[in-house]
Amino acid sequence: MTATPVPDTVRIALGPRSYDVLIGRELLGRTASYSELPAGADAVIVTNTTVGPLYAPALLEALSPLYRRVLRVDLPDGEEHKDWPALNRIFDALLAAGCDRKTVLFALGGGVIGDMTGFAAACYMRGVPFVQVPTTLLAQVDSSVGGKTAINHPLGKNMIGAFHQPVRVIADLDVLASLPQREIAAGLAEIIKYGPIADAAFLDWLDDHLSGLVERDASAMAHAIRRSCEIKAQVVAADERESGLRAILNFGHTFGHAIEAGLGYGQWLHGEAVGCGMVMAAELSRRLGFIDGAYAARLGDIVRRAGLPVRGPALGADRYLELMRLDKKAEAGEIRFVVIEAPGRASVRAASDALVREVIAACTG
Ligand code: NAD
Ligand code: GLY
Repeated sequence: MTATPVPDTVRIALGPRSYDVLIGRELLGRTASYSELPAGADAVIVTNTTVGPLYAPALLEALSPLYRRVLRVDLPDGEEHKDWPALNRIFDALLAAGCDRKTVLFALGGGVIGDMTGFAAACYMRGVPFVQVPTTLLAQVDSSVGGKTAINHPLGKNMIGAFHQPVRVIADLDVLASLPQREIAAGLAEIIKYGPIADAAFLDWLDDHLSGLVERDASAMAHAIRRSCEIKAQVVAADERESGLRAILNFGHTFGHAIEAGLGYGQWLHGEAVGCGMVMAAELSRRLGFIDGAYAARLGDIVRRAGLPVRGPALGADRYLELMRLDKKAEAGEIRFVVIEAPGRASVRAASDALVREVIAACTG
């Protein structure tokens, strides 16, 4: 008989809203992963038409001993369905089944399902508990942790949302096996980001272990996911509602969001745009005099080896600037960027349009 693997645990310390992230193998289908959650009669698995057929039956079986009923809602797959009609389908299912305010929601999917289920949990009967069961690498290292929930509005991404922390996060390494390689690379972008902003030694480790991560080596993945969650835990514990420090988690995102919006959502994955955006933000940091060319080049090389684009599309500097003025960090029309002040340390700074134009000229096309 083989022993059950013991998961790693990362604690997100937020006083009464504290919770654990469990990271390991064979977690999703194990009833013990869900022990001691808030008690309720009903569990509702919210998933999509891609992930549901793969993993919902195992989750349903694991939850069945713990709840009177386990219901399932399958939403359409895709960022374009992170919207009011899809959100309403969750409320329709909960109300039609007579789910009460002790119902526990389970988000089974990537960041889209996690963000939408979290928002539904924040709103349903003014707030019910929810569990994140992230199935993409990006969701395991970033979106499932920290309590940001949202849907998109036609005029802006993630513009309608709430802070609502999950009561547990279950990051099962085994589900990464079915992810397309492009999605693995997109998740690696959010892992790489933690090195320059918070942990210089972690970037060294990533440099040495990148090929293992690209090939989904389980022990390399476990380490990268745990370290990413630890760093995110520290940042979120210090600034849960992003009044300052938490903004550093958006390294590469100002350029990245402009790329996503400028090309039209869905052309590049979010993580691909963030990967390229980090290269551009590193170039900005170099031109501001914070880091040297060797460090910026090294970061670019790591991004490239992860399988991510390192040159931005030729949208034109005017269009980049126009799109970046819509960024949530912009203040009074002034664009603000997360810059690397030194390896492992970041801050939010304004930069002149002239300097940003230089970066765009050097890094796009
Ligand atoms: P996603 O949720 O769209 O998932 C990517 C694709 O992979 C989808 O087609 C999905 O169905 C599929 N998939 C998921 N798990 C799979 C598996 N195990 N096997 C096979 N296919 C699988 O995208 P994502 O990259 O996970 O998340 C992006 C979203 O996350 C964006 O909406 C972004 O705004 C949000 N986000 C939120 C935060 C936050 O802090 N809340 C942080 C970063 C990103
Ligand atoms: N992904 C950015 C944040 O959680 O703040």
